[in-house]
Amino acid sequence: MTAEPLLRVFDLTLEFKGENQQVPRSVLQGVSFDVFPHEVMGLVGESGSGKTMTALSIMRLLPPAAEIVGGEIFFGESNLLKLSAREMRAIRGDEIAMIFQNPRAALNPLMRVGDQVARAVSLHHEMSKSGAYEEAIHLLVRVGIPDAASRARAYPHQLSGGMAQRVLIAIMLACRPTLLIADEPTTGLDVTIQAQIFELIKDIRAETKASLLLITHDLGVVSEVCQRVAVMYAGQIMEVAPVHELFAQPRHPYTERLLSSVLRVDMPSELDTSKAMAFTSIDYENPGCRFANRCPYAFDPCWDHRPHPLNISASQMVVCHKVSQEIQ
Ligand SMILES: Nc1ncnc2c1ncn2[C@@H]1O[C@H](COP(=O)(O)OP(=O)(O)O)[C@@H](O)[C@H]1O
Ligand SMILES: [Mg+2]
Repeated sequence: MTAEPLLRVFDLTLEFKGENQQVPRSVLQGVSFDVFPHEVMGLVGESGSGKTMTALSIMRLLPPAAEIVGGEIFFGESNLLKLSAREMRAIRGDEIAMIFQNPRAALNPLMRVGDQVARAVSLHHEMSKSGAYEEAIHLLVRVGIPDAASRARAYPHQLSGGMAQRVLIAIMLACRPTLLIADEPTTGLDVTIQAQIFELIKDIRAETKASLLLITHDLGVVSEVCQRVAVMYAGQIMEVAPVHELFAQPRHPYTERLLSSVLRVDMPSELDTSKAMAFTSIDYENPGCRFANRCPYAFDPCWDHRPHPLNISASQMVVCHKVSQEIQ
């Protein structure tokens, strides 16, 4: 990729401060990845690996106890972490939009959904009230809501999860962002609806030419939707690669593990070994690689210091002592 990245997350480190915690635990440590213009980038990792905290750092919508203690987030020329709250609000409305895992919670429960979409339209376009409402109905039609004019009068609790997610996508469309962040947008929806929502997200991205950062714990989704992917484990990025390269030749032992557990689903004897891994607790305190205590290849340096990110090709980056040693 030759273009300048649209989003550059560099060395992002985030800690939770709390009265109950003696030692702040860095839930993100040195997280770095880029998203290029018009690209669909995946961020994949198990539950608890720090995907949502990464997204909320970009949006600057972190919970109060979370503190960014290092790193930078560039959106084009702007360092998002240095912007005033007001400048950030402008970016959030116009340039970066996010859809969340629980769409109903992201909607205002007391306001009809058509009015919520119309409000987003008026915030972003000079338009009469009736013009904005008309545009809102167009958007609801565009995101595949049947009988949109009458559904527009519904309140969020009267919609299914899939329909509510479509409404959020319509609100996002009204903003015409250049970067969309979708955080597990189909978790909790049934499989058919999931597939429909992904189709919609893909269509909309193609139509708007926006970049998409798609967050998921599901490698199947990554292979369907994304061009590149960053693999995250316990708050650290382990590998970044184009999707076809990652699937053809995973380089990080954790990626290997993740892929083999996807491929192994109907082989119970093998599944037992991955379960064994699940019972080892995550080693957040290790100054080296946080995967070391689960890694079959771990050797001394893995417990000593974090490996340097290594570009093993023009497009594939891996953070692993074993790989670094093999390459030298
Ligand atoms: N409010 C909070 N206080 C303390 N720790 C938190 C809080 N929210 C999330 N965490 C911790 O941050 C880590 C990353 O969480 P998150 O980004 O939500 O993971 P993911 O989205 O990958 O499932 C988790 O280990 C979680 O326990
Ligand atoms: Mg999450």
